[in-house]
Amino acid sequence: MRTELDELRSAGYNFEHPFDVIHMFERKIANYTGAPMAIVVDSCTHAIELCLRYHMKTSNLKLTCPKHTYLSVPMTLHNLSLPFKWTDENWIGHYKLGDTSVYDSAVRFTSGMYIDSTDMCLSFQYQKQLKIGKGGAILTDNTQLCDWLKLVRHDGRNEIYSPWVDQPKFTEPGFHYNLIPEDCALGILLMDKLPKHNPDAKENAYTGYPDLSNRLTFLSKS
Ligand SMILES: Cc1ncc(COP(=O)(O)O)c(C=O)c1O
Repeated sequence: MRTELDELRSAGYNFEHPFDVIHMFERKIANYTGAPMAIVVDSCTHAIELCLRYHMKTSNLKLTCPKHTYLSVPMTLHNLSLPFKWTDENWIGHYKLGDTSVYDSAVRFTSGMYIDSTDMCLSFQYQKQLKIGKGGAILTDNTQLCDWLKLVRHDGRNEIYSPWVDQPKFTEPGFHYNLIPEDCALGILLMDKLPKHNPDAKENAYTGYPDLSNRLTFLSKS
């Protein structure tokens, strides 16, 4: 039995519906990072996937991926059938996926970190700064992307309908990538204890991650 919603009330937060807690967490992340909008999902990997799915609808993306990163990033590119070139970059804190506005910012979570005109993907995995266990978010100033993400992250459910059975039409094929209110409540409680400035979760790419370029043998089969 999860107790975080009760703990959140005991800590002085008021809300009516558990879904309100999702929006409270998103506002808190946006305020902390300086991003105009924050959208929570269930991992950084899925944050990256959704951002790429959005941008690949309208642009011919030229993608790169550092050789030194976490496995799920090149695997996501592969699963989306997006060709990419490996790079040798020894990135610190975050890196950009090729010519897109999408950043993998999994190892950075600190105040004022948002960079204008980017879509920064965060991780709340247990080894990162905000240790929810599993979770992520997208920081963006792109209103259309934000609206699309809010719709597709939870099975195409429009937030104005609760319960979902009242929604008459589903206009987008959604993904089951939502972060549940209990995890958002935990995120809020943990953020209240987070310092203003946090060091990155890895010093740099070379010391933090092995070279993946010769290890993903399935890539040469495609
Ligand atoms: C650099 C980097 N990118 C992406 C990820 C994936 O994050 P998540 O586990 O939240 O999907 C990680 C997680 O270890 C990471 O270190």
